[in-house]
Amino acid sequence: MNDAPIGIFDSGVGGLTVARAVIDQLPNESILYVGDTAHSPYGPKPIADVRRYTLEVLDDLVAQGVKMLVIACNTASSATLRDARERYTTALGIPVIEVIQPAVRAAVRQTRNGRVGVIGTVGTISSNAYEDAFAAAPQLSIFTGSCPRFVEFVEAGVTSGPDLFAVAESYLAPLRAADIDTLVLGCTHYPLMSAAIQYVIGEEVTLVSSAEETAFDVYRTLVKHGIEHGATIPPTYVFEATGGSKAEFTGLVRRFLGPDISTVELVETGALYLPTLTEQDLTA
Ligand code: DGL
Repeated sequence: MNDAPIGIFDSGVGGLTVARAVIDQLPNESILYVGDTAHSPYGPKPIADVRRYTLEVLDDLVAQGVKMLVIACNTASSATLRDARERYTTALGIPVIEVIQPAVRAAVRQTRNGRVGVIGTVGTISSNAYEDAFAAAPQLSIFTGSCPRFVEFVEAGVTSGPDLFAVAESYLAPLRAADIDTLVLGCTHYPLMSAAIQYVIGEEVTLVSSAEETAFDVYRTLVKHGIEHGATIPPTYVFEATGGSKAEFTGLVRRFLGPDISTVELVETGALYLPTLTEQDLTA
């Protein structure tokens, strides 16, 4: 048992989709979440800068005493995967979970025709991190595409409408033409627009969310190492941002994690009048 928090890191708010999935599967765990809003978005930035920003925040999470690090950002995972494992797992014994390997494993399991698409930020796609991760499954054909404007739509709360559909069609049409049957959502924002992506790419394509798959990896690693939170102390959730507007960050945290529920009404069942149905009505 270990009651220290799990450190979850993202460039901003996208990693909250991973935090959400972790909280759903591990409701007793404490979370210390950091969004590097001073440097976000990472997607369009040079990968060397993303690596430096990421290691700075991860060092800070380690200094705050986390028991595990979750790099809940595809662009940061692309930039730091190898360094992070050496720096924290090999040197300090702190497990590091990232979002690319879990999604790749799920896609390998899922595909039937061996043709898999991956969408992400410009940084993630140009790093070839997904192609490298899929190298262990050489029988698959991988088709990648960057979708730089999706992050801005998600943060604005826009998940439908002509602008979004036109942009999505231009990003996704080449993948549809490549006859993929599985599409990896290789950016932590995309699960929040998965219905739109599914609508545009077509129902026959199965979407793989790195958020959910990563939560499974967090679960497995905690259980395997025997470092789950003891159920006696209630969990704490702390959200930190490195810069920008506190109000804006808080608003997005609420939207990504679910709004606070402030009132619950107790109602009695049977209070509504329903006309009595006869046997004949039910079989008609
Ligand atoms: N969190 C980033 C990712 O998953 C997307 C947002 C950004 O560009 O910073 O790649």
